[in-house]
Amino acid sequence: MGGSGIAGDVVRSAFAAECPVPISVTKGYRLPGWCRSHSLVIALSFSGDTEETVACYKEAFERGCTVVAASAGGRLAAAAASNRTPHVTVPGDVSMPRAALGYLASITIGVLSGSGLIGDPGESVAKTADALDALADRVGPDQPTHENEAKGLAAVVADRIPLVWTSEGPAEGAAIRWKTQLNENAKMPAFHSILPELDHNEIEGLATVDAGQFVALVLRHALEHPRVAARVEATRALVARSGLEVRDVWGAGATALEVVFSLIMLGDFASVYTAVLRGVDPTPVPVLMGLKERLAR
Ligand code: F6R
Repeated sequence: MGGSGIAGDVVRSAFAAECPVPISVTKGYRLPGWCRSHSLVIALSFSGDTEETVACYKEAFERGCTVVAASAGGRLAAAAASNRTPHVTVPGDVSMPRAALGYLASITIGVLSGSGLIGDPGESVAKTADALDALADRVGPDQPTHENEAKGLAAVVADRIPLVWTSEGPAEGAAIRWKTQLNENAKMPAFHSILPELDHNEIEGLATVDAGQFVALVLRHALEHPRVAARVEATRALVARSGLEVRDVWGAGATALEVVFSLIMLGDFASVYTAVLRGVDPTPVPVLMGLKERLAR
């Protein structure tokens, strides 16, 4: 769920095309019916105490699935110890679960690779890490606004409601991450939709109203389907009269992993700069923590 579950979305986006079996991300209390003893279940919860994740872990164990859990501790670690199922301990010294994406995604990639479901990701991971180091320099806090794409994007979204669009494939996980980082860091509404599906419904609702309070950010990349470029232009033209600004944001790299993580890094920085512009503290999430406390009573 949330900042832990996003690792599943990201890994699915990056590896679905390569993996010979479906990668399904479950965000709820129940596993799908097809999930049985032949299935590999990876239960991710930074705290280890998220009730939905703990419930799915238990169900996977009871159904005889191969289960691997990852957490910094909590009930998930305790259940894994008592059931003698593999558990990976995530370092607990990050400020918030959503800051542990690198750990949780790496663990998931490692488990898929170790299970023989994807090839050795070592080279691609190393290349992605180098590219992210360079990107962090370009969009980090020391880089002035006029040369900093993330600060520029923050200025665009800070007083509007962002609609994060991308095409089905490698960047889907990035679109979900942009939406959730804007929600949690900048404390603002944000939504995500996927092309081409949004051309079959969402544009109808946007084209004929005053949509000036929204801004659509389209996450683009070199691996997108050739028809997507035509769709983006046609969509932009059709919604133009509503006042909706449709702005392209380009991810870098030639592999799905680089694409998804370059877009994520850009969005993560942009969401924090948006928080600064909106005068809110990006780290604490009192509303969602309050909800957890309320349900625990
Ligand atoms: C992100 C955040 C939430 C949690 C989510 C699940 O920083 O605080 O989105 O990630 O509520 O909790 P965990 O990650 O502990 O399983």
